[in-house]
Amino acid sequence: MKNEPKKEKYKMKKTIVVFGSSTGTCEAIAEKIAAKLGVEAMNVADFSADVVAENDNLIIGTSTWGAGELQDDWYDGVSVLKDSDLSGKTVAVFGCGDCESYSDTFCGGMAELYDAAKASGATVVGEVSTDGYTFDDSDAVKDGKFVGLALDDVNEDDKTDERIDAWLEQIKPSL
Ligand SMILES: Cc1cc2nc3c(=O)[nH]c(=O)nc-3n(C[C@H](O)[C@H](O)[C@H](O)COP(=O)(O)O)c2cc1C
Repeated sequence: MKNEPKKEKYKMKKTIVVFGSSTGTCEAIAEKIAAKLGVEAMNVADFSADVVAENDNLIIGTSTWGAGELQDDWYDGVSVLKDSDLSGKTVAVFGCGDCESYSDTFCGGMAELYDAAKASGATVVGEVSTDGYTFDDSDAVKDGKFVGLALDDVNEDDKTDERIDAWLEQIKPSL
């Protein structure tokens, strides 16, 4: 047909969003990201080697607890990541935290997800400038940038949507 619409420039490969969340904040963010991409969000409690095998792209998110630590349910999930061969897979990391009450460890849990994915050979995309954030320190900042999308839905929920949208535009061509 002559007037056939132009083909999408990028066809997204098989993608899943995996989250760890204790009080529902990171879960809600994961659902939002998944809905915007038109894919499923899964609790990390259900994450497994099979899920890794079935997907090309893993978008993985954690809230931060303790002092800069992973959300509890991620400890087994990190073992899954570490035991997997992620070469050829693309990983993007997101996290939620509280930059006022935990300014020294803001979104620190993201660092463990990033390190595990990298160690297993994944291509990690989606680093984010620290511009526009107020915090003192974070393990999730490497070479001057967050290793993924840092969100603070406690104090800055008005910024969450625009941060997610900008990040998705940034990573979509890699997915
Ligand atoms: C005991 C406790 C420790 C926390 N530690 C951190 C922290 O080190 N860094 C951070 O950015 N946020 C920290 N937070 C904030 C949570 O990450 C934040 O409330 C988040 O939205 C919770 O998400 P969830 O409901 O998905 O688990 C902490 C919160 C609590 C209650």
